[in-house]
Amino acid sequence: MARLPSDAAGAAPPQLHAVRLRINGRRHELEVPPWVTLLDLLRDRLSLTGTKKGCDHGQCGACTVLVDGERILSCLTLAVMRDGCEVTTVEGLADGDELHPLQQAFLRHDALQCGYCTPGQLCSAVGLIQEGQARTEDDVRELMSGNLCRCGAYPQILRAVCEVALAPKSASDAGEREAGSVGRVTAESLPR
Ligand code: FES
Ligand code: FES
Repeated sequence: MARLPSDAAGAAPPQLHAVRLRINGRRHELEVPPWVTLLDLLRDRLSLTGTKKGCDHGQCGACTVLVDGERILSCLTLAVMRDGCEVTTVEGLADGDELHPLQQAFLRHDALQCGYCTPGQLCSAVGLIQEGQARTEDDVRELMSGNLCRCGAYPQILRAVCEVALAPKSASDAGEREAGSVGRVTAESLPR
């Protein structure tokens, strides 16, 4: 096992903290050093690599996940701060084989190129919808401004998020029915 430099100097090993999380509906009980971010815990300990590390400094939004329903930057959040919380990552958005309406909209609008920013864009958009503040396309643009896309897929991302976020409830249901008539999108139909 790799040793920290301080071990060689005889310093005490880092104190581990118990953290209980429910992630994508599954309970986890872990012991982590106090400096481990939620992002590193998800990716390195739990192999939930859908959540991406971009800047690791809170500037790109690639690491966005939902904690107790609110979108947060997991690179700026220590895992120990979220003890007892409910975390949803991009892996938890689909309902079984059926993709989340936002995931379906991203596919319909071709709202990705390399896909690196996409998990963060999706989680952020889910949070945006739950916040209920977006009324116009400009609102969506502003409220998604923390999620950068180096490929410049912004027009398509905006169209996809607006389609779901701004749809009136009744129209939304109709839209889902219409989307279903075009072809139900499932996880299996995604490009590998
Ligand atoms: S990786 Fe967290 S904001 Fe960029
Ligand atoms: S699709 Fe490549 S960074 Fe957004």
